Amino acid sequence: MQRVFLVLAGLGLSVGTTLAKLPATLSNAPKTKSTAFRPGELWYDTDGNLINAHGGGLLQVGNTYYWYGEKRAQHQEEGVNVYSSKDLYNWKYEGVALPPSQDAQSDIAAGCLMERPKVIYNKKTGKYVMWFHLELKGQGYKAARAGVAVADKPTGPFKYVNSFRPNGNMSRDMGLFVDDDGTAYHVYSARENYDLRLARLSADYLTATPQDSLLFSKHQEAPALFKTGGKYYLITSGCTGWDPNQASLHVADHPFGPWKPLGDPMTGPNAKLTFGGQSTYVLPVAGKKDAFIFMADRWNPKDLKDSRYLWLPVQFKDGQPTIGWLDHWSLNFFNKPSARPL
Ligand code: GAL
Repeated sequence: MQRVFLVLAGLGLSVGTTLAKLPATLSNAPKTKSTAFRPGELWYDTDGNLINAHGGGLLQVGNTYYWYGEKRAQHQEEGVNVYSSKDLYNWKYEGVALPPSQDAQSDIAAGCLMERPKVIYNKKTGKYVMWFHLELKGQGYKAARAGVAVADKPTGPFKYVNSFRPNGNMSRDMGLFVDDDGTAYHVYSARENYDLRLARLSADYLTATPQDSLLFSKHQEAPALFKTGGKYYLITSGCTGWDPNQASLHVADHPFGPWKPLGDPMTGPNAKLTFGGQSTYVLPVAGKKDAFIFMADRWNPKDLKDSRYLWLPVQFKDGQPTIGWLDHWSLNFFNKPSARPL
């Protein structure tokens, strides 16, 4: 902040009148406490470093949120990062929750890909369980496996357990969902991404049970599953690699379906390309009924660590979730009557 102040003073500017006109790098300057989401802008952690947690997901533990995501260099994958926050705007870096292994024989040997990590808490075992999309070193996207790791604390260190193709199926983009009764599910893109499948997890969440079904064959990926009003909703993207495409929304009365298509939930300008992003997670906001945040990645394949985060509120119109663009917004948004489900 002091540095920003000096820069401003040097330019003969005052903080109050000029922040809005400054480039993102300065206006979102390190160590400034944030009170709003600014989708697509640079997002710094509380140490002043850019948040590096792509394809991520959140977990709430008590009054703390943990954000897990891919740690990216320009192209390489460097494990799973974890951040913590009490307000969802300001994030403290907690370190690498699961680093790649230095053992060249390990499934997660440095040079592998660990994508779209998600963490859930198992009440029975008291363990934090991470699932991620694993691609073995040097094999591109051929391996198509799910990887699993466990920890005693949300910040880790996570210990790698194993990797597999759930019930023999290819497993690429994925999400996890824990239902109200504690049953957990793995939702994943299979058969070269043509199929979207759902597998119930074992009681310890460490593996997939044979209860594993095809949800639909529509060439979809980036699944994000959430539940409200007794209905399950699933947001997915098309398959165009790092390039954005049109999102889809499905609804069901049970995670195994049948899933009914509801079309594209995005509205307004640039909606047809999901505002340049790709879904990764939908977060239920604690303490606010039926308040959900849609999280997406705006990938930058030339410099993956510079991929941006799009967090937008889910609104309910005619009882259906819709998502529109906002340059900036805060959790107060959910207090507006128009944001409530009908
Ligand atoms: C996307 C996928 C990303 C990443 C990327 C690689 O389709 O959603 O997680 O795997 O492909 O090209």
